[in-house]
Amino acid sequence: DAARFGGGGDLRFSPVPPNKDDALRVPDGYASAVVVRWGDPVLPDAPAFDFDNQSAEAQAKQFGYNCDYVTMFPMGRDRALLWVNHEYTNEALMFRGYKDGTAAPEEQIRIALAAHGGSVVEVERVRGTGQWKLVTKGRRRYNRRITALTPMRFTGPAAGSDLLRTAADPAGLKPVGMLNNCSGGTTPWGTVLTAEENFDQYFVNGDKVPAAQKPYISRYTIPSGIASGNRRFDRVEERFDLAKHPNEVNRFGWVVEIDPFDPDAAPVKRTALGRFKHEAANTTLARDGRVVVYMGDDSRFEYVYKFVSKDRYIQGFDRHNRKLLDEGTLYVAKFTGDSPAAEIDGSGKLPSDGAFDGSGEWIPLVSGDTSFVDGMTAAEVLVYTRAAADKVGATKMDRPEDMERNPVNGAVYVALTNNSNRVPAQVDEANPRPSNKHGHVLELVERRDDAGSTTFAWSLVLVCGDPNDASTYFAGYDKTKVSPISCPDNVAFDRDGNLWIATDGNALGSNDGLFVTPVRGRERGHVRQFLTVPIGAETCGPMVTSDQRSVFVAVQHPGEVDGATPDSPVSHWPDGEGGQPRPSVAVTWHSQGKKIGA
Ligand code: FEO
Ligand code: CA
Ligand code: CA
Ligand code: CA
Repeated sequence: DAARFGGGGDLRFSPVPPNKDDALRVPDGYASAVVVRWGDPVLPDAPAFDFDNQSAEAQAKQFGYNCDYVTMFPMGRDRALLWVNHEYTNEALMFRGYKDGTAAPEEQIRIALAAHGGSVVEVERVRGTGQWKLVTKGRRRYNRRITALTPMRFTGPAAGSDLLRTAADPAGLKPVGMLNNCSGGTTPWGTVLTAEENFDQYFVNGDKVPAAQKPYISRYTIPSGIASGNRRFDRVEERFDLAKHPNEVNRFGWVVEIDPFDPDAAPVKRTALGRFKHEAANTTLARDGRVVVYMGDDSRFEYVYKFVSKDRYIQGFDRHNRKLLDEGTLYVAKFTGDSPAAEIDGSGKLPSDGAFDGSGEWIPLVSGDTSFVDGMTAAEVLVYTRAAADKVGATKMDRPEDMERNPVNGAVYVALTNNSNRVPAQVDEANPRPSNKHGHVLELVERRDDAGSTTFAWSLVLVCGDPNDASTYFAGYDKTKVSPISCPDNVAFDRDGNLWIATDGNALGSNDGLFVTPVRGRERGHVRQFLTVPIGAETCGPMVTSDQRSVFVAVQHPGEVDGATPDSPVSHWPDGEGGQPRPSVAVTWHSQGKKIGA
């Protein structure tokens, strides 16, 4: 049965053509609906959303801005909790007449702090369909907002280190808030891992830290002075001014674990997983039961990482499992091509062995209190992980975004979204295209199919773009039959092992979308566009439910087009004519209840 191995036998839908519509477009035979929008009540006592009368108090109880990662925790057949990240705010679309953070009323800054973070919301199925709706009545005991002001905890080897101590938290154990939570993952014990990505943009005065800290400030691109476009969180929370609180910036850029079923528990920043611009954190188990977390650092020329726990996962032993992410080894990836360098000429032509492929190794950086990096302590490796990876010869990639293991075939897929800065002299077999506008997707097969291995094989599955462009590659599939795809960002799998890819920043000029391709058999590389999101939006989240009757996407930043404002919006999605664009989670299902992709 080809479908069981990602062979795509069940994918029969007609692709959605590229478009620039202000609409969520789905294939013929499918329906879609919004599940939850920016401003919808999350806590039972939240007021109704009123665009022209926003307040921080209301926002802290309402669904936040710019939804990203989406995952679901079932509570029976027809009820579930949704977890959703709120990555960042776009004040120019949120507030009329917004100029910048320096001129903004303080209440707008407080609203922005409250619009970051994440939400837990209870949802229910519309009986007999693949549609899910927000539960809007009753107790909703698990509903929760987490914001940039939520008290949290540090655990793991760097917790309490000098590098994490501040005036407000002299023990270095209690960070406040999370920021720029982009993608994420779940754990085998039923919690969320949510990844802090571009945390640099929230700080001012990165140039005014002590001299010893300065190399790391620049390595993490923390702005000097007050960068244009800065939200000026420092005006209401002094800790964002690094001239006064230089270590505060070290308290962001982590993977945060949250238990959706424990609304009173403080979120936990797991320092053993390192600090960088985390895109996501997806778990799997090694053959011996150790927990493995795959992670990308989404900036140009950054690295791919994995964490392997010291101890094994024991099903049902919750107290034990919840410590697994505090002790283990953090690795960074080195990719080596198997073709002569001269054959990787930047033209997009496949090397003579017929593939961009090769071998690789996981280089250990730190394990518990033991550093493997010359001149750096374990705490330094964990807090300044980028600088540690620089020293060990890791491979600089084209913006590693989401990375996840396919539960059917065991391979790990890495979305490398783009890198317009790579020059011809910098191409290598794993990043073979200069000024890589459209990105690529890499398949990594761990030695003996064991996620705990320290070596692997890899190959490129897709080199994205317009299939008429000679530099593209669709795993050898007939390019006249595939959808154009650009800037792969988030990946997900259905139960048949098909690879779902959400895009961000389609450099072909059409709207972003959600795509699916089989990864095994004759259909490998047959990329088809399943949906497109409204103008100005990126596609996030994607999640095919385990019953394969629904697919969720987060429609992030609809209407985010240069020059758009609330007085001249480019998108009216999802509320329609006269409405302001509202980042929202949407669900798509087959009108006759067939499996997604049918
Ligand atoms: Fe927030 Fe890397 O996308
Ligand atoms: Ca090769
Ligand atoms: Ca992303
Ligand atoms: Ca992205």
